[in-house]
Amino acid sequence: MEESKIQDIEISLFLDALLQRHGYDFGNYAKASIKRRVLGLASAQCQSVAELIPRLLHEEDYLAEVISQLSVPVSAMFRDPPVFKTLRETVLPLLKTYPRINVWQAGCATGEEVFSLVIMLEEEGLLERTQIYATDINDIVLHKAEDGIFPMRNLAEYERNYKSAGGKAMFSDYYIANDEFFRIHEHLRQKIVFAHHNLVSDGVFCEVQLILCRNVLIYFNDELQKRVLNLFHKSLVRNGFLCLGTRESLRAVEAQHIFTVHNQECMIFHNQGILS
Ligand SMILES: C[S@@+](CC[C@H](N)C(=O)[O-])C[C@H]1O[C@@H](n2cnc3c(N)ncnc32)[C@H](O)[C@@H]1O
Repeated sequence: MEESKIQDIEISLFLDALLQRHGYDFGNYAKASIKRRVLGLASAQCQSVAELIPRLLHEEDYLAEVISQLSVPVSAMFRDPPVFKTLRETVLPLLKTYPRINVWQAGCATGEEVFSLVIMLEEEGLLERTQIYATDINDIVLHKAEDGIFPMRNLAEYERNYKSAGGKAMFSDYYIANDEFFRIHEHLRQKIVFAHHNLVSDGVFCEVQLILCRNVLIYFNDELQKRVLNLFHKSLVRNGFLCLGTRESLRAVEAQHIFTVHNQECMIFHNQGILS
């Protein structure tokens, strides 16, 4: 048998062990991407994927490392500035009509996007009445996000993004810095509840007016995208907003007509349902 076919069997056994032993189902992730991630994990630690299986079965602490390696926690503050500008100019004014606002960022990685959102909510006078939930499957990045500490080497890029996204003050108003790191101010960090939530298997998180889930669906196949988009549909109030990544789509639920377009270029949609 060809070596690549043997490798595919090993990957399938590894993912099955992950599901049976720990309840994490990566079976509906995009195949090429998950294969790359598992092979990356193996090449850093041993000769073959099969050698990872006993560790996964018997070493309790190994799970967090595996989940961390299989997820892709890349993020940036005010990533895609036109999207944040559009949220600020066309979505936040509509959220002002609600006395209490709930926002859910699903797949928050190390927190860069949710802190961007918090800064915008503060500048638009909405932070006081907003509760923000940021969730991810990867506990290691969730802990980092909770700390709100980011490397100084990214600061210049974030300052540029902040301005292009319509920032009204100075980005430096929102953090304290030393030589290597800057840390988001505590009063902003306190507004966010960071929590573990798995989009593959967990249910409705809470009733929300806005969901930001960018660059997450791209790692899922159509079946899983459909599940997740239906979960968002059930979590959003009628006419609530969903913002996806610019390389993502609603293709998986096109026939259901559960969302209508608010801004196609920025991938912002209205929910058409009522929370059931
Ligand atoms: C590329 S990052 C996106 C970060 C951020 N949304 C952005 O666009 O800058 C993808 C995130 O999705 C998370 N993720 C992957 N599978 C998930 C799942 N089943 N449930 C929740 N989060 C998941 C990963 O852990 C990772 O942090």
